[in-house]
Amino acid sequence: MAKPIVLGVLASGRGSNLQSILDAINSGEISAEVGVVISDKPEANALKRAADLNIAAVCVDRKQYKSQQDFEQALIKQLQLYKVDLVILAGFMRILSSYFVNAYPNKIMNIHPSLLPAFPGKNAQQQALLYGAKVSGCTVHFVDEGMDTGPIILQQPVPVLADDTPESLAARILQQEHMIYPQAIKFFVEGRLQLEGRLVKLLSK
Ligand code: GRF
Repeated sequence: MAKPIVLGVLASGRGSNLQSILDAINSGEISAEVGVVISDKPEANALKRAADLNIAAVCVDRKQYKSQQDFEQALIKQLQLYKVDLVILAGFMRILSSYFVNAYPNKIMNIHPSLLPAFPGKNAQQQALLYGAKVSGCTVHFVDEGMDTGPIILQQPVPVLADDTPESLAARILQQEHMIYPQAIKFFVEGRLQLEGRLVKLLSK
């Protein structure tokens, strides 16, 4: 049997997207394994989730490194140690430079809680509410040097309701994140994502 694709998940917080990916692997939906979960925050719940499942859980604390490049070098070292094929950003709250992006060309995915290119950056759900958008959603994309600008893999719209708060909208979007992130990873693992410029084509099976 072919060696399974190894995922390296980078997460700063709660880790609910990590959980949805682990669930999809455990149910046989995605044929891959999570080799390591890395956080920049020692207290991240994502590390606890990984450790509870005997998955390598590593903290690479930005404060321990003099420069961004040293920090990114440390991240890359861990990803190499665990032989990671695809890097999954799941609520990783740090910008990565081209130094990191070039180490894994078209092999880094991110999920963002809006329909990009609308509302990139922080507090995307609040941005959508303040703007008066009637529809928002979530986007899985490949990561490039920009902020939430990389090639779009999957998107799912979600209605914005008149009485929404940032929290209620975030919760509605999060439910969809948990569907499309595993789906996008499944497509990658199956070799069905083909990049043409910034267009991601989904190849049929
Ligand atoms: C999600 O809303 C994701 O879109 C954003 O950060 C949040 C992470 O949530 N990038 P979790 O840690 O996966 O629960």
